[in-house]
Amino acid sequence: MSVSVAPGRWPLLGHTPAMLRRRFRFTSELYRYGDVVKVYLGPLPTYFVTSPELVHRVLVNDGGSFRKGMMFDKFVPYLGNGLLLSNGTFHLRQRRLMQPAFHRERIAGYAKTMVRAVSELVSPWRSGEVRAVDKDMQGIAVSIVGETLFSTEVGQRATVEARRSIPIVIKQGMVRALSPSFVERLPIPGNRRFDEAIERMRSMVLDVVSEWRSEGADRGDLLSMLLLARDEETGEHMTDDQICDEVLSLFTGAVETTALALAWAFHEIARHPEVEQRLHAELDRVLSGRLITFDDLPKLTFTQQVVNEVLRMYPVWILMRRATAEVQLAGERIPAGSEVTVSPHALHFDSRFYDNPHRFDPDRWQLERVRQLPKGAFIPFGAGNRQCIGNSFAQTEILIVLATIAARWRLVPVPARPVRVKFTSAAYPSRMPMTVVPRG
Ligand code: HEM
Repeated sequence: MSVSVAPGRWPLLGHTPAMLRRRFRFTSELYRYGDVVKVYLGPLPTYFVTSPELVHRVLVNDGGSFRKGMMFDKFVPYLGNGLLLSNGTFHLRQRRLMQPAFHRERIAGYAKTMVRAVSELVSPWRSGEVRAVDKDMQGIAVSIVGETLFSTEVGQRATVEARRSIPIVIKQGMVRALSPSFVERLPIPGNRRFDEAIERMRSMVLDVVSEWRSEGADRGDLLSMLLLARDEETGEHMTDDQICDEVLSLFTGAVETTALALAWAFHEIARHPEVEQRLHAELDRVLSGRLITFDDLPKLTFTQQVVNEVLRMYPVWILMRRATAEVQLAGERIPAGSEVTVSPHALHFDSRFYDNPHRFDPDRWQLERVRQLPKGAFIPFGAGNRQCIGNSFAQTEILIVLATIAARWRLVPVPARPVRVKFTSAAYPSRMPMTVVPRG
């Protein structure tokens, strides 16, 4: 059986123009052409996998036959050999090293910092004030990851720099990922902004690392863990550059994703009054006006359904892998070295698994309905050996921030300034002004 080629291919430029122009619409229609479809990025053929079963195979069962793919290569100047990009035994070692910072009991400890951070955010809010909710959520996501994983110095300094630079790096990196490689050598403003943003972020982290080294104290945070770790065989510490790669990988992985989920959550809740009422009823019943704790989270079942529905509707667009050995997909021989693409977004909007997929419907996450979903159809955090290390961290943070705000405030859209969707690595709001109104 031969793999079909997606429609809309140009000579030389392949599907790049169609992908950049039509973005999510392009990828969400590909399943019509088969379980595996050829998509050309410039002249390079890539295999786009559209069925959940095969996605599960690529990410989980055959995960060992793949490494990170081309899209990720474009971020090497920024994230070097950090956890998001590294491969093989080196990746495994670094992941094991960092995993303790994400254990359940540590996250339970971070929950207190999360509650404090969101309480500080809302304490100056005044009734009728218009807030830029997307910016607020980005700010809180940066502060939370900075304070929990890297103690306050990185946290504070990174707040300003990360807010400015991470969106630039992600946007330009995605353009590069989909374009033929000569584009990244052109002297165009986008390339200059990309290089400058990387330079600013790396020098900020390297400064903090060199200060830490001169003081040498163990602060018990993830940064101290990285700085103190020794290679089991060589006994050597990580280089400053490697530490910088890891810090930036965690920051970049953590900030935009969580901030977007939170911003879109408030957007959707405001557009669905019946969801808002049920959410408020649950929060009032479980919290009765007091601050949330980690132990409350399992009781917030409807709030969790709302979060799942947001993660379904606003996931990352595409993930890429490169086959390190020949693999068979849908009866097709995929040679070693081939690029394989998976789209959480396309799967999450596939009407074969989600009826009326454009409808915001938290009830689709009721237990009996979830059981009918095939493996691989819901992958907001990826799956397999490269699944998001911050999965539980993020879910805890989103629930705490959402619950703390919604327990006291309603966020109401400003009608004259509608929210439009911009696409980069995921759906971004063009802006998100909302009026904050205390709940009666
Ligand atoms: C809603 C929030 C989040 C979403 C939707 C999300 C999504 C993802 C996805 C899809 C991947 C897999 C990429 C792939 O398979 O190629 C990933 C990996 C990763 N994420 Fe997240 N993430 C979120 C929050 C976080 C947080 C809070 C952190 C850190 C505190 C984080 C750090 C990372 C890192 C370091 C990786 C690479 C893991 C590895 O390859 O071993 N993420 N994330």
